[in-house]
Amino acid sequence: MMDHHTQVSLSRKILDLAEQGATSFSDSIFLNPVSSYTCPEHLKREQTRLFRSNALMVGLSCQLARPGDYLTDDLSGVPIAIVRTTEGGLSAFINVCRHRGARLLEGQGTLSGTLSCPYHGWVYDLHGKLRQLSPNQSFQGLQCAERNLTRLAVVERGGLIQVHPVPGQCIELPSLSGVLRDEIDHYDFQSFSHYETRLLRKSFNWKIVIETFLENWHFPFLHRQTVLPIFIPACSHFETFGPDARLIMPRRSLLTLRGQPQEKWDLLKHSLIIYLLFPNTLLLWQGDHLEVWRVFPTPDTPDQCLAEVALYTRRAATSARERAHWDKNMALLLETVEVEDFKVSEQIQKGFHSGAQQHLTFGKNEPALKHFHQMIQHALYNDGTH
Ligand code: FES
Ligand SMILES: [Fe+2]
Repeated sequence: MMDHHTQVSLSRKILDLAEQGATSFSDSIFLNPVSSYTCPEHLKREQTRLFRSNALMVGLSCQLARPGDYLTDDLSGVPIAIVRTTEGGLSAFINVCRHRGARLLEGQGTLSGTLSCPYHGWVYDLHGKLRQLSPNQSFQGLQCAERNLTRLAVVERGGLIQVHPVPGQCIELPSLSGVLRDEIDHYDFQSFSHYETRLLRKSFNWKIVIETFLENWHFPFLHRQTVLPIFIPACSHFETFGPDARLIMPRRSLLTLRGQPQEKWDLLKHSLIIYLLFPNTLLLWQGDHLEVWRVFPTPDTPDQCLAEVALYTRRAATSARERAHWDKNMALLLETVEVEDFKVSEQIQKGFHSGAQQHLTFGKNEPALKHFHQMIQHALYNDGTH
């Protein structure tokens, strides 16, 4: 949560924009090649330079609250396991047994002190250290220490967990710009509760999922019945923080701030605040709860993706009434995104293969899209090995 001074200054900027019928602009239109959504070679480059060269967001701390809690994550193509250790930290490793390669953990759950392979019973501790070969006498000459699980770098900060999917790579700190980090810290996400996660397999390129959230100019056309009544369309405030970015879409209720004393201005209640955590994660602050989107390409084709959305709340939903409230939120979210946005996304991907055009055109009114694609182009081609 940003501090109040920042909330007031941003609210003022957004109110000015809204009252003038204006928005954040980029300095020029931007052409994005259609091939970046369809070319298998481009996908390979993305997989290497984006999905194997960066720490990837895995989830929120509340999903692993107590010692022994674990979660697994396969969306990046690397089987990742993360465990809360007895000391309270996190250890992350590749979810593969060092004996003959069996998968160790499934889904989410809680371990009681050790982790035992389901195939032949090799036993590891919560740090991934091998404690027991099985049968012990059959591995003479082998020390347990030679077969510890393959560790991955993990960072937990402000309630967000990031893992580097490649062994031996470290996560450069800070993994986000300091200003953005401080701002995200203030939301106190470590105290949030996980409500629900949905995994969607879709027939379009992963970048189109991210694009869906990076402008609100389509609200009056595509979301007339769903979210248009809530938001001021065609008005947003955009700011970059290195490769990451923040896009604020004001709710109509923001306009009521003008009549209130400044000390009471609460930008967070009156806007959708979208953080792009480059390359593939979106945090959506939805007024009173958090929605997290993580998007991944599938390995074989640029025409498909995996999109995961998780809903987190400030307090755990305990009553039927609270659950009904969050279920309604989830339903509106899926109605808007899955039914309305993703229907268009599927058509877009088909259209890419039609030969209609070589480029997409992003207007000056779509600065977040330009930024996203510029950052991708930079990561893919501007590191001296072009
Ligand atoms: S593969 Fe894990 S104990 Fe054999
Ligand atoms: Fe949309």
